Amino acid sequence: MTAKVIDGKAISKEIREGISKEVSEIKEKFNITPGLAVVIVGNDPASHTYVGMKEKSCTSVGMYSEVHRLPEETTQEELLQLINQLNEDNKIHGILVQVPLPGGINENIINSYIKTEKDVDGFHAINSGNLFLGEDSIVPCTPKGIIELIKSTGASISGKNAVVVGRSNIVGKPAAVLLLQENATVTICHSKTKDLKEYLLKADIVVAAVGKPELVKGDMIKEGAIVIDAGTTVVDGKLVGDVEYSKACEVASHITPVPGGVGPMTIAMLLENTLEAAKKKCK
Ligand code: GUN
Repeated sequence: MTAKVIDGKAISKEIREGISKEVSEIKEKFNITPGLAVVIVGNDPASHTYVGMKEKSCTSVGMYSEVHRLPEETTQEELLQLINQLNEDNKIHGILVQVPLPGGINENIINSYIKTEKDVDGFHAINSGNLFLGEDSIVPCTPKGIIELIKSTGASISGKNAVVVGRSNIVGKPAAVLLLQENATVTICHSKTKDLKEYLLKADIVVAAVGKPELVKGDMIKEGAIVIDAGTTVVDGKLVGDVEYSKACEVASHITPVPGGVGPMTIAMLLENTLEAAKKKCK
């Protein structure tokens, strides 16, 4: 079998075009420009690249964008003050604090300081709790994009065995909850899992989100599986996913490339969450 490539770049482009149209409409009808504030602390080069991409995408769909680039020495108190300011700013409908944050700053405290309705990352304890409960919530961008990519194949998720590799709060855990909501039978594997291959060989859907380059080998994948690779590690200046791509292509039915798979969808979902937050202000 030669896997069909799930083109996250093309799918996200279509979504961004739809968002762009809606942004124009609400500007005209309600005189509201959806606004996103991104906060980044420290000097992590990869995070700065991602934030730059978020900023560019935001303005390209006609949204207002502001980026606060803060030094490594920023204290939790200073960061909370900025969030307070952004919480009260009517131009801003979405706030995103890029993680990881430098040591000494507690991500959970920061995220839960953001007004729930402006928490476009969906990392606030109330939003995560509501997601867990199956109630209305803002859904974290990467897992939301992953579900869209799986659905883009036309395959039904209901009743399928899904294995999520990785248990981060940003991707693994919420992806597992979303797959469960779609009626998949979900297993979460992680660094302490004894025999990863044993679990993966039963998976109709694989979501790799562990940040270990090519951990998921081709011979661990079931014939015909849908493989979503959310891994992005820079190795020798090149972006490498969590899946051994060329070998996995020989067995999977559908697979996302790295780059060009999950990454562009994360940004499209961020724009979607920001647009939705702004639309709540349109009356
Ligand atoms: N770092 C890596 N992915 C993300 C994300 O989706 N949101 C935030 N805030 N930080 C990230």
